[in-house]
Amino acid sequence: MVKIAPSILSSDFRNLEAEIQKVEKAGADLIHVDVMDGHFVPNITMGPLVVYAVRKVTKLPLDVHLMIENPEKYIEAFAKAGADIIGIHAEASKNMTRDIAQIKKLGCKACITINPGTSVKPILRVLDKVDMVLVMSVHPGFEKQVFMTNALGKIKALRKIATEKGLNLDIEVDGGINSQTAHLAIQAGANVLVAGSAIFYAKSAAKAIRELRESKHSRPLPKVPTSP
Ligand code: DX5
Ligand code: ZN
Repeated sequence: MVKIAPSILSSDFRNLEAEIQKVEKAGADLIHVDVMDGHFVPNITMGPLVVYAVRKVTKLPLDVHLMIENPEKYIEAFAKAGADIIGIHAEASKNMTRDIAQIKKLGCKACITINPGTSVKPILRVLDKVDMVLVMSVHPGFEKQVFMTNALGKIKALRKIATEKGLNLDIEVDGGINSQTAHLAIQAGANVLVAGSAIFYAKSAAKAIRELRESKHSRPLPKVPTSP
């Protein structure tokens, strides 16, 4: 089944508790928390304190996407704050095997993430060590960007390798997911869709989530940029 992970980056932070409960009621499967440090990406968002607060107001698993340099310094703090899944970027980790092992030792699921400019090659050797791979379909840093179709080939390749190797791998896609693009990612083999603006800015979060989850039918390809 396709899982939907609303990104709280697009929520109204004046009312975070209500926003999270809104998407939980609307059928979300995970809560996606975008952590940005102003170094790895040109934006600053939330830290472990916010994860700790979010943990108190939802039963859904927290999918913490670390867009930070030196992730090894902060993995423990996010695990202790209540993260269920911790995702690190292949571009930021100095030792993926070590960082993944640390995440798992702390009792969390591990996710390895690649930027639009990174191929699947550097992460192939850790595929059997992670629970999830996150393929970015925008340059990380901001919401409301346009879906980049070069993510699709990477999702397809990863799904093929995972199937061949018999790996039980979740493949998540993040950035520019809406009712127009969701089916492209699903058809390519993604089973976890992150969406911020498409859910939090919708009149009905339940309808938006349903449309993303059930977006299986081919529609005309939207006008999107090609590879960087
Ligand atoms: C981008 C973040 C995404 C983003 C999603 O750096 O990782 O989670 O906020 O927002 P939308 O769905 O609006 O592209
Ligand atoms: Zn994200």
